[in-house]
Amino acid sequence: MPAGPSPASRGEFSSRLGFVFAATGSAVGLGNIWGFPTNAASNGGAAFLLVYLVLAFCLAYPALMAELIIGRHSRSNIVSALGSLPATSGGRRFGAAAGTVAVITSSAILGFYALVAGWVLSHLGAESARLAGWQTSASWLSQGSIARDLGCALVFSLLTVAVVSGGVKAGIERWSERIMPALVILLMVLIGYVLLQPGASAGLRLYLVPDLSRALHPQLILSALGQAFFSLSLGVGTMLIYGSYLPRTVNLPTTGALVTLVDVAIAFLAGLLILPAMFVAQQQGVEIHRDGLLIAGPDLIFQVLPALFAAMGSAGSLLGLAFFALLTMAALTSSISMLEVPTAWLAESTPLSRRGAAWLAGTVIFILTAAIVLWFDPLFGWVVRAATEVSEPLMGIVLCLFAGWAIHRDTLLAELRRGDWMVENTWFWKIWPPYVRFVCPLLIAAVFVNSLR
Ligand code: PHE
Repeated sequence: MPAGPSPASRGEFSSRLGFVFAATGSAVGLGNIWGFPTNAASNGGAAFLLVYLVLAFCLAYPALMAELIIGRHSRSNIVSALGSLPATSGGRRFGAAAGTVAVITSSAILGFYALVAGWVLSHLGAESARLAGWQTSASWLSQGSIARDLGCALVFSLLTVAVVSGGVKAGIERWSERIMPALVILLMVLIGYVLLQPGASAGLRLYLVPDLSRALHPQLILSALGQAFFSLSLGVGTMLIYGSYLPRTVNLPTTGALVTLVDVAIAFLAGLLILPAMFVAQQQGVEIHRDGLLIAGPDLIFQVLPALFAAMGSAGSLLGLAFFALLTMAALTSSISMLEVPTAWLAESTPLSRRGAAWLAGTVIFILTAAIVLWFDPLFGWVVRAATEVSEPLMGIVLCLFAGWAIHRDTLLAELRRGDWMVENTWFWKIWPPYVRFVCPLLIAAVFVNSLR
């Protein structure tokens, strides 16, 4: 029997569309708008895009389905879900331990994500201050300092807690529904503007003409897989908990495919913005290469692009404002989904209310963020790597194995039938069950082991 309390007491998305907004909001984040384009630029342009598309649909989508199905079937947070599915007590103990690792990973990701989102917020503030003519505030906000980093990360964390403590429908769904359409419109406007500027076509060429000699390079495949998993928010229990709030009648395979498609499409569109913008910046005299490679990472977002905005006068300030607003919105709909993982776990396994759980989890995570700000050099890279390169792929394997082996085939079929009574005749049902049992875990493991060499 499914574990956990009744849907009424734990919240539910109001419709399939509400879920799609929330899940794509989680998926579309800094990973898409910043990570994907720079990864593509440093890995052979369209060759990376090609490999990414294959991996997103062949590996990440089946893993996403594993999380959604476990979530909707068990109707509970990841610790209780994995801790109740196996038939043996050893299996259940292992499941609860793995679920706890996922809660810690999600919290750790939010720990560094809030800092990066704080940088984004500070640049949003700086561009607004510049437009208002407040030069002193603008330069304080655009120059890194411990006070600025702590302050902006705190504001971002408070926003995240405020949305999550509002609940599934009134918090997560309502804000995702508002933010996601605005994000898409802003992205389109920015792409349109940047593509009309001199220099943009060189960036387009780099992005869209594949360097096929690089397509099968192990490093490229590895980066593409990591990118696909991070981008679809996999391996930390986010999609599992969102799946647990899905109405029973929603068709899972098509809804999951829609989320994957939107995520990939927005990453692709972000490439149409970022790479041309870099070459427009070059035309304006901004340095976009370092040691012979395109500048990626934080320097791209917080130095190259602001230099471009500054060189473009008042149009540039507006452009900067729109760009950092876009990044803030993308980051917020992702961070709420990260905080939902520990919040749901606390609310469902302790006497705390949802509000209390969100504040407690948010406070503990902010302490981690503050530690990362204070001891940046030793901590930042380590937390990012441990969470995204080790824990996420390993948990991805565990979740596929649980969906494939710990849920009986008839139960899986019954779960999928609720949304599509003909599901037995679909390709999905013919391919996915054996695929998630054997192929998916083995492929993720192969790529993971390869990355350790
Ligand atoms: N998918 C988000 C992004 O692309 C990051 C994320 C990871 C969100 C894990 C939730 C959980 O930025």
